[in-house]
Amino acid sequence: MNMAGRSMVTIDDLSNGEIEGLFSLADEMSDSMGQQATLCQGKIMASLFFEPSTRTRLSFETAMNRLGGRVISAVDIGATSLAKGESVADMARVAGSYADIIVIRHPWEGAAGVVAEYAGVPVINAGDGGHEHPTQTLCDLYTVKKERKTIKGLRIALSGDLKYGRTIHSLSYALARFGATILFHPYPGLEMPEYVLRKLTTRCKGKLRRYGALGTASKEGLFPIDAVYVTPSSPHQLAMIPDISMQVELEKDVDALYVTRIQKERQKETEGKETKNGHVVVDKELLKKKKFKKTIIMHPLPRVDELAYEVDGDPRSMYFKQAARGVPVRMALLALLLGAKEIIIPDVDDYSSVRQEDYPVYRRDSGLKCSNPKCITNQESEIRYIKPAFRIVSLKPLTLHCFFCEHELYPKYIASADWHEGKTETKKYHSATSSWIRRIQPEKLIIFDSEEEAQLRGFKPSSYVTRDTAPENTDI
Ligand code: NCD
Repeated sequence: MNMAGRSMVTIDDLSNGEIEGLFSLADEMSDSMGQQATLCQGKIMASLFFEPSTRTRLSFETAMNRLGGRVISAVDIGATSLAKGESVADMARVAGSYADIIVIRHPWEGAAGVVAEYAGVPVINAGDGGHEHPTQTLCDLYTVKKERKTIKGLRIALSGDLKYGRTIHSLSYALARFGATILFHPYPGLEMPEYVLRKLTTRCKGKLRRYGALGTASKEGLFPIDAVYVTPSSPHQLAMIPDISMQVELEKDVDALYVTRIQKERQKETEGKETKNGHVVVDKELLKKKKFKKTIIMHPLPRVDELAYEVDGDPRSMYFKQAARGVPVRMALLALLLGAKEIIIPDVDDYSSVRQEDYPVYRRDSGLKCSNPKCITNQESEIRYIKPAFRIVSLKPLTLHCFFCEHELYPKYIASADWHEGKTETKKYHSATSSWIRRIQPEKLIIFDSEEEAQLRGFKPSSYVTRDTAPENTDI
């Protein structure tokens, strides 16, 4: 298969078969590292890292050098015209006119997607704020496959900052798609965001079991799990006897423990204190537990204090291997997107039953804004070239996902474009919880965040605007 010209903004941009094919190519690269020096000769990679990076940037640049290509780079926003107020889109167009491929890390969520839209060349997301980091996921999955031969049916615990850890978000989608069971062990206050959980449960038809308060579910208080997500590949009947099977689930061994640091740079000032308590250090003592006997220990690095140096020599520790494998994996990805290599796509299971593209898209200009202040649509709203867009992922309660950063939005009011056109007396808006929501076709739906917004646009309240509109999250 030829993947030339494609971008990788989220882990969803590659199918499971493509990921497996890429891993075979990474094996090939790894076995003949010194013989790839003509593969991307004459090609230029723009390496744009507007957030700190060691592994991702250096491994991408090493990969391009190993392939015989060249690298141009910018690593400081303050040294680019972005600091003069240039838009991400203009920067992307220009970089795309110099380079054959762009690798971008940016603090704004959704920024890599905008770069991909405007660059005109393949774009690889090397981390966009707290949103996604899909190539780290490739290194993580590659490591799990190398060490455990399969991902399907494995039990993988994700520990640390699940809220802002972008590597965790991309990894959890991939694990679910490949049929793993995920055990969530967040630090207090840094639980998995709602939009990630919704994506996991709606897309792969897996089951999520939450405990609410950290620690109540575990007999072994040292490693409290606050939720478990099970994909349909797992051979037990979680949905039928949830409490019993969940207890069994918690006592079983863990195949991989993926640890992350607290993403201090993304935290709000008020979040610091709470997260300090419940901070579990992965050390020799913890790894003595029976359930971790054969567990591989993973970390995207850098570590701070969540992973003790004393376990570095333990054969279960994989984090330096994960980092080293970044080179062959990224060589494979660059060679594919630049069209220097093709792959054979193996036939593999994919547990996704709904793809993001299956949801209706809402693009009307009705004043709706993404709820995430770090979303590029809010950061560049002054320039107004990016039009907010949303996926309608649920009607009850009305739930939208921002097209760029995927954060959730629960707008309160709706109207139909069908009825009001030309007739001001029928320009009525309704509560989003009223039954009108099901009668309006998605393409005719007008959505408002507030009554003021609806009235500003000439709509009057119907008799259906008084009902309660609080989001209930009934789908999860
Ligand atoms: C991660 C990142 O940048 O998100 N690092 C990496 O790319 N290996 C993890 C982190 O910074 O904590």
